[in-house]
Amino acid sequence: MGLTTQQLITWKQQGRPIVALTAWDYGFAQLLDAAGIDIILVGDSLAMVALGYETTLPVTLDEMLYHAAAVRRGVKRALVVCDLPFLSYQESISQAIHAAGRVLKETGVQGVKLEGGHPAAVETVARLSDIGIPVMGHVGLTPQSVHRLGYRQQGTTEADAERILSEAIALSEAGAFAVVLEHIPTNLARMITAKLPIPTIGIGAGSDCDGQVLVTADLLGLSEKQPPFAKSYVNLRDIVTKAVNDFSQEVREGKFPET
Ligand code: KIV
Repeated sequence: MGLTTQQLITWKQQGRPIVALTAWDYGFAQLLDAAGIDIILVGDSLAMVALGYETTLPVTLDEMLYHAAAVRRGVKRALVVCDLPFLSYQESISQAIHAAGRVLKETGVQGVKLEGGHPAAVETVARLSDIGIPVMGHVGLTPQSVHRLGYRQQGTTEADAERILSEAIALSEAGAFAVVLEHIPTNLARMITAKLPIPTIGIGAGSDCDGQVLVTADLLGLSEKQPPFAKSYVNLRDIVTKAVNDFSQEVREGKFPET
């Protein structure tokens, strides 16, 4: 048995930071899990980093299921959570139950994430939680709303900050086991983190969240473009390009294979 959602709540109470990263395939999932990452998120950002789309909107539930099953096969310890993609849960509660149910039944992951903290999203989280499906919320910058909100920082006015705080509280009260805070001011993230009994997982939300998440392609320097708050710990695009060029040159010069 791997990590549980209850363990994450205990870590929040103990002040032990939670580490989360995204994955979209078996190989990276194995590496992240062996490195001790706590939450592996099959984020719908895979639409951009693995499938070449401009936004997260086009990725389908079937595509998410395909990637989530591959990730799950690579993981022994981490809690694996899969994003519900755009329009797989917003039409009705029964659509959300059907989509989240497929994710758990067909991939073996332990939870789903959905975006937004408006009343319909909160009701969806409550219903999914009631039937035993662990749900992670996501407020602040919600990339599925890019055509309405853009990719800019959210919660910068008093009214907007209050709205995001109330949304996070409502998601927690509805039964979410954690909530992602994306691209909001540090002081707002600190306030939300102090008020919620469940862990906050920040991305572009400062250092006072209970945990941090990054898109693994950004962390590894694989992304073509990345948000201002992301940090690359290595430039894999350059390393891979050099290896490919070295191979290519050796083949063309008759140096590989040696015999
Ligand atoms: O899709 C994703 O990768 C995400 C993270 C940015 C939290 O939702």
